[in-house]
Amino acid sequence: MVILVTGGTGTLGRELVPRLRSRDAAVEVLSRRQHPGFRTGDLSRGDGLDAALEGIDTVVHLAAGKDQAGETRGLVDAMKRHGVQRLVFISIVGIDQIPFPYYVDKLAAERTVLDSGLGVSVLRTTPFHSFAAAPFLGQRLSPVLFAPRLKIQPIDVREVAVRLADLAQGVPRGRVADVGGPSILAGHELAREVSRRFGWSKPIVDFSLPGGTWASFGAGYHLVPHHRSGGRTFAAYLASL
Ligand SMILES: NC(=O)c1ccc[n+]([C@@H]2O[C@H](COP(=O)([O-])OP(=O)(O)OC[C@H]3O[C@@H](n4cnc5c(N)ncnc54)[C@H](OP(=O)(O)O)[C@@H]3O)[C@@H](O)[C@H]2O)c1
Repeated sequence: MVILVTGGTGTLGRELVPRLRSRDAAVEVLSRRQHPGFRTGDLSRGDGLDAALEGIDTVVHLAAGKDQAGETRGLVDAMKRHGVQRLVFISIVGIDQIPFPYYVDKLAAERTVLDSGLGVSVLRTTPFHSFAAAPFLGQRLSPVLFAPRLKIQPIDVREVAVRLADLAQGVPRGRVADVGGPSILAGHELAREVSRRFGWSKPIVDFSLPGGTWASFGAGYHLVPHHRSGGRTFAAYLASL
């Protein structure tokens, strides 16, 4: 069985690809870049897709460009042309409840996958530790640390990779149970963890924003308190940086 990973060069893909190879899976990686060992293709333009799907049995679709719905439709159509039957898709917890534009696009892509008639597995996850940390790390030079008045459930990307590897090597299961990180932390708790890790003593300033999207995050639709994974905590992730 040969597996093509779209987005195999990204944060999640760089964890998934070696994991699959360590299980003796034959893995190809789709990238827009021309690089030895990659299959070159661009999902938004459709370039290179037909060649990239030659000899492929399963696609794990992680890539997310500016038009995920259109990119995913193009991928599904190309898979059907080439008789590629199996598709594993990474999605995001709460996308059907939160009108954030990236989530609206992801939901349309997810629906394309679920309605494709292919043998599919879809996993929704909460944000990775690196994604949760980035807004704070970006404030390194700021005299204060702004923290959203929201809760976040960051997950170890390696846990997500293990689940996707299992799905890629198993039978299609449709939408599987959502997964989230081991702890749910308020924005100021994340800020405190980052400050502790880097020895910052700057004040933490909570903020909220108006509007329906913020209110939906405030309602916690992006959290899965009953589906906590194992794996390292946010503090352990920061310690590894
Ligand atoms: N980050 C999170 O916290 C999080 C949480 C839940 C779900 N997810 C989902 O997990 C997936 C992976 O996230 P990530 O953080 O690993 O992404 P990432 O690091 O930003 O990587 C994005 C990947 O998409 C590929 N890509 C972008 N546009 C493309 C195009 N037009 N054609 C082909 N490939 C394209 C890039 O490949 P090249 O640059 O090599 O072409 C790259 O490998 C995404 O679908 C994301 O929505 C992420």
